Amino acid sequence: MTRILVLYATDYGATRAMAEAVLEGAASVEGVVALLRSAEEVTAEDMISSDGIVFGSPVHMGSMDWRVKKAIDAVCSGLWMRDALVGKVGAVFVTGGGFGGAGGGVELTMLAMLANLAELGMLIVTLPKNAPGYQNGGLHWGPYMRTGDEAGNPAGVNPESLELARHHGANVARVAQRHAG
Ligand SMILES: Cc1cc2nc3c(=O)[nH]c(=O)nc-3n(C[C@H](O)[C@H](O)[C@H](O)COP(=O)(O)O)c2cc1C
Repeated sequence: MTRILVLYATDYGATRAMAEAVLEGAASVEGVVALLRSAEEVTAEDMISSDGIVFGSPVHMGSMDWRVKKAIDAVCSGLWMRDALVGKVGAVFVTGGGFGGAGGGVELTMLAMLANLAELGMLIVTLPKNAPGYQNGGLHWGPYMRTGDEAGNPAGVNPESLELARHHGANVARVAQRHAG
């Protein structure tokens, strides 16, 4: 059995909705068990027992949410000391208000998270541009969801981004399964 952990932080629910879509996608692959954990509750054991970990964050001030960074610093860094996450599959997803219409820092946030995954020795799964829905929420680093309208007001979740997140979850699970197998 291949195990995928989906970790997220949220204030208003958008990133959790995307985490649930990633989880659904991962769990749709036969032989995969997927576990959802908030960044505040995730444990070292959750990570050690997983073959793949997907990190999700809202964009906060152009970078990752402090709770995601805290999980990386407080939980992952102890595992880094003993190379416990080396060779596990890793991936990211992000939501952002997108104020200004230019992405609002989603790409920087993904890169900041991916840099941490690389530091941990994880094998990064990106998002291929032929993924369904890529035009409306795809970056080669992973899926993102824009949650604000043009005036910067919350616009809710976007079904196309959730579909892309499902695809990402399934893709990560397949890669982890092949790698573990
Ligand atoms: C403290 C704070 C800072 C934010 N900074 C940004 C930002 O730099 N760029 C952006 O696009 N959105 C920014 N946002 C908007 C959130 O990224 C966006 O609303 C996100 O989808 C919220 O996710 P959630 O519903 O999971 O909490 C910020 C929100 C908060 C609360």
